[in-house]
Formats: sequence, C-alpha cells, structure tokens
Amino acid sequence: MRVSVIGCGYLGAVHAAAMAKLGHEVVGVDVDATKVATLSAGDAPFYEPGLPGLLAEVRSTGRLSFTTDIAEAAGSDVHFVCVGTPQKHGEFGADLTYVDAAVASLLPHLGPGEVVVGKSTVPVGTAEAIAARVADAQPEATVLWNPEFLREGFAVQDTLHPDRIVIGAPATDAGERATAVLSQVYAIAIAEDTPVVVTDLATAQLVKAAANAFLATKISFINAMAELCEATGANVVALADAIGHDARIGRRFLNAGLGFGGGCLPKDIRAFMARAGELGADQALSFLKEVDAINMRRRVRMVDLARDVCDGSIVGRRVAVLGAAFKPDSDDVRDSPALSVAAQMGLQGATVVVTDPQALDNARRAWPDLRYAETAQQAVADADVVILATEWSEYRALDPAELGALVAHRRMVDGRNVLDPAAWRAAGWTYRALGRP
Ligand code: UGA
Repeated sequence: MRVSVIGCGYLGAVHAAAMAKLGHEVVGVDVDATKVATLSAGDAPFYEPGLPGLLAEVRSTGRLSFTTDIAEAAGSDVHFVCVGTPQKHGEFGADLTYVDAAVASLLPHLGPGEVVVGKSTVPVGTAEAIAARVADAQPEATVLWNPEFLREGFAVQDTLHPDRIVIGAPATDAGERATAVLSQVYAIAIAEDTPVVVTDLATAQLVKAAANAFLATKISFINAMAELCEATGANVVALADAIGHDARIGRRFLNAGLGFGGGCLPKDIRAFMARAGELGADQALSFLKEVDAINMRRRVRMVDLARDVCDGSIVGRRVAVLGAAFKPDSDDVRDSPALSVAAQMGLQGATVVVTDPQALDNARRAWPDLRYAETAQQAVADADVVILATEWSEYRALDPAELGALVAHRRMVDGRNVLDPAAWRAAGWTYRALGRP
C-alpha cells in the first residue's frame, strides 16, 4: 500500500521505517530539512536502538523516501499524522500548533477514499475537529484515530510488534471501510494475533491519555511509598518486589527513584487534566495533580540527599551526575529528571559535571551552563559526590573499587535504586538512595 507519514520525530521516523519494513511504499514528510536530509541519507536523526539497522534494511528496498514537500504525500492510501504535541508555554494544555499545521498542509492533497490516521497524543475532541476539516476539504476521505504506545528505547520492536492496536473510527460505512484499509496496513501484526480494539474516536483518544496517566500514577505510587520508607527505615525495593508478586499489581513500572520525565508522561498528564477541566470533569483527574507533585518532589529530595551526604552543604562541592537522558537507551533530554537535578545543584553553588553515553549533545543544547564529560571516569574525577541519575547499563556495571580510586570522596547517591548497596559499602562508599535505608 502507499503510505505517508507526516512528522518524522521519535514517533514518525520509526513508524515510517517500520511501515516500509512491512512492505508498504512509504514517504516520510517533515518541515525540518536537516532531519529529512539525515533520514534520506539513511541515518537516524536521534539515538534509538535498532533504528539505524532498520533504516539501512528498508533503504535497500527503495520503498522509503523522505521529503519536505507534502505534495509527495498525494495519492497515499493512508496518511499517518505523527507530529509532536508539546506542553503549551506556561499552561498545562497541549500545544496543537503542529497537528493543525500538518492537517492544513495535507488537506489540498487529499483524494477520495484516502484515510487520515492520527497517531499523535491529543486532547480528546481533536480527532473530531480534524474530521470536520477533512470533510470540508475532501468529503470522501475519512479520519481514524490510532494511538501509538511505543516506548523510546524499544520503539522499533514496539512498532513492528505492538502489544495492541487501537482504532478509533466513526460509526459509518466510511468508518468501516477506512478501518478495513488500516487493518490491511497492519495485516502482519494482526496475523501475529495482536489484539485489535476498534472503538469510537473519543475512546481511542482517551485510551492513550488513560494509559500514560496510569503509568505515571504507578510510578508516583511507588515513589510515595519510598517517602514512607524513608520515614520508617523500610526498603522500597523489597516492598515493590513483594507487592509486585501480586499479578493484579505487577512488578513493572514500580521502580522507585527520581521519577518520570521525557516528552510524554509529564506533559500528557497535564494536558489530560487541562482537557478534563474544559469538559467540566476536572474532579475526575484532580489526583493527577498529586501524581505530578510526588514526581517533582523526587528531584528536590535527590538534591537534599546529596547535600546530606556532603555534610550539609553542596556549595563549592564537585558533583558528578551519571546520566542526562530521561531514561536509558535514549538521547532524549526533554524534561529529564537527571538534568533537572544537575541544574538545581549547579544553581545552588555546586560544580556539576554531567556525563551520558548518548545524550551529551542534546544536554549541552538544553543546559549550556553545565559542565560535561565524555565518560563516567572523567566525570567522577575528584568528585565529592556521585549521583546516578539515569540507569544506563554501563553505570549499573560500574566497579565501586575502580571508581573509588578516581573520586575525592566515596559518596554515591543512587537515584534509580539499581546499585548493590552492600557491594558499594564494602568498597568504602557512603551509599544513599531514595527509599532505601
Ligand atoms: C511512555 C509510555 O511508556 C509509552 O507507552 C508511550 O507510548 C509513550 O510514553 C508516549 O506517550 O509516546 P516513554 O516516554 O518512552 O514512553 O518512557 P517510559 O518507559 O514510559 O518511561 C517514562 C519515565 O518513567 C522515564 O523517565 C523512566 O525513567 C520513568 N520510570 C519508568 C520510573 O521512574 N520508574 C519505572 O518503574 C518506570
């Protein structure tokens, strides 16, 4: 089938490559000429494991091209809208500028029978508004909503083998026909017995917001338990292991620590609250305010803990921060808890050196005032305290004796609860963590 993918960021670039891998003829469209040039050369514009290999593989088939010219999307059976919906400046709501612009640019090129498929995370009601605009421009085109659940770091796997496919469609013959077209696009995944939920447009949009709100709540729940553990001398890791054995609860997403960041969970729960307010249902989501507050407190607590181990002051202390990305296996620093902690400590008078295996360029752009080092060994040289802020596997594997030889003081604050306290203490380190005695 012929497919266009509008917006080639973390979501769209992977989606375009995956659609080509599934055998479709794909054109990826983006307004950013640099990104288009990078992708056209077969390179990934960001770090995502598996993406360079996938791009190389599909490039050789000639089925994937990238362009800044939306006219090249004309004639596609399906147009996927994959642009970003960041948080508005100074407000909780989602900024729909890019969605609106993408749809506006596509309208003049839409043909009869073509299907516009929204994948961006949007406030409920957006799909219906887009459907009305599409109906005006091309009455024989149909809008579906097909939210994306991919995780950065696992994006290729999640796109090729999703754990579910959700399709929101209008309850009309055209909606049914469009759903059949989209099901054909996903035929391989559907043949692998991937569950498919076909529903109305509103539910499909809500599914995505609800899923991210649930994940954020799960993380903040365990971080709230970490606060109680700290107040009682209990151990949040053991607690998570124990409650996680209950299949109804489950152990995944119960890792206590610095909390969630990134381009999705923080802004999505805020946009969800803002939309609920507009709909007169703000009470339903007022608990998300608490979820957000617990999450942001983790960052402050982390700085307090570092100050504690430095005998009450970080002024003039040398602090090494291991990790800049919002999570491992990503170079994404959007709302990164690691950088937020590094910046706070810098503002409070510490000399902060940040390192990360992949995210240094993005980190430098976001926080040019911090110092950066290429390796963990360079970052920790003469450090008064080391903070593990992003649990990259190479940081989890650090040897406490080897690292101990490089620092000025053996003080480790484990922001992700991933190190073995006994091993670090045995090597002479003062080990502290969020929610562990
Ligand atoms: C999240 C969702 O997991 C995806 O399903 C969704 O498609 C995506 O947002 C999106 O809306 O596009 P992602 O932002 O890539 O994916 O990252 P997650 O793996 O969800 O991690 C989010 C944050 O939570 C990270 O900062 C991570 O360190 C933190 N986290 C995660 C914890 O603090 N504890 C945990 O137990 C798990």
